[in-house]
Amino acid sequence: MQKIILTGATGGVGFQLAKKIISSDIGKLYCVYRNRQKYEDMFDKEGLFPEGYLLENKDDFSGLINLLDGDEHEAENIVLILNAFSIIPIASIGTFATEEIEEMIYGNITRNVLMLNRVVEYCKKNDIGLRVINLDSGAADHPLNGWSNYCASKAYMNAMLATLASENPDYQIVSFDPGVVDTDMQAKIRNTDKNIFNRVDTFIEYKERGVLRKPEDIADQIIDRYLLNWNPQSMREKAV
Ligand SMILES: NC(=O)c1ccc[n+]([C@@H]2O[C@H](COP(=O)([O-])OP(=O)(O)OC[C@H]3O[C@@H](n4cnc5c(N)ncnc54)[C@H](OP(=O)(O)O)[C@@H]3O)[C@@H](O)[C@H]2O)c1
Repeated sequence: MQKIILTGATGGVGFQLAKKIISSDIGKLYCVYRNRQKYEDMFDKEGLFPEGYLLENKDDFSGLINLLDGDEHEAENIVLILNAFSIIPIASIGTFATEEIEEMIYGNITRNVLMLNRVVEYCKKNDIGLRVINLDSGAADHPLNGWSNYCASKAYMNAMLATLASENPDYQIVSFDPGVVDTDMQAKIRNTDKNIFNRVDTFIEYKERGVLRKPEDIADQIIDRYLLNWNPQSMREKAV
């Protein structure tokens, strides 16, 4: 049996992914979240009770490892879906507040790296295969005003995973860019001051023209391309 760890299970793409994985027999799902009330409200409402893992402050992920170990079924392989990322703060360089930057870097980089580190350690110790599906963004390659920390955190995780692949040629790793998806993240982007993010009108227009992708369709693509099948043509792929 494969065990699937999904971060950001309460988000736009994450929740759709969780629901679809639960209703399939792809593997056992472990939903990682930071807001217990939001998590319970969303999943209880749907009558869904997957295994959940509430993030701790300065988490060393021993709780997550205990959860994996405590399961009666041994994992044949682990799938880690790194979906939780924040775009906040959207702010110009020169105006950063230390705390917001530290929080964003902790959430987008430090915590992802620590979790990855723990999961790799666990897989090696138990001789289990690993597949990592990272949610990528065009922002990793293209500077967007006000998004510097988000751009940099996406680029950081891509470089981290490229190195993981180099160190472990047997691991299956992909960074998947979902395109522009109709979630809270896009709502936050549309709410930005034009003087900070100069392309805000373009994103408002995307929404008005109805060209945003549906999170459920993105979840279907991830499941079809990387959970049910595995045939990426490159380490970085985009939604079709
Ligand atoms: N939406 C797009 O247009 C778009 C485009 C390109 C790439 N992506 C990528 O696709 C992925 C999913 O995005 P989405 O649109 O579904 O985002 P979303 O709706 O904003 O959801 C993000 C999820 O990540 C969690 N999260 C955010 N920051 C966190 C932190 N510091 N610690 C723990 N959890 C945190 C959120 O938790 P809460 O529910 O508690 O807030 C939420 O569950 C992200 O990696 C995003 O960068 C999205």
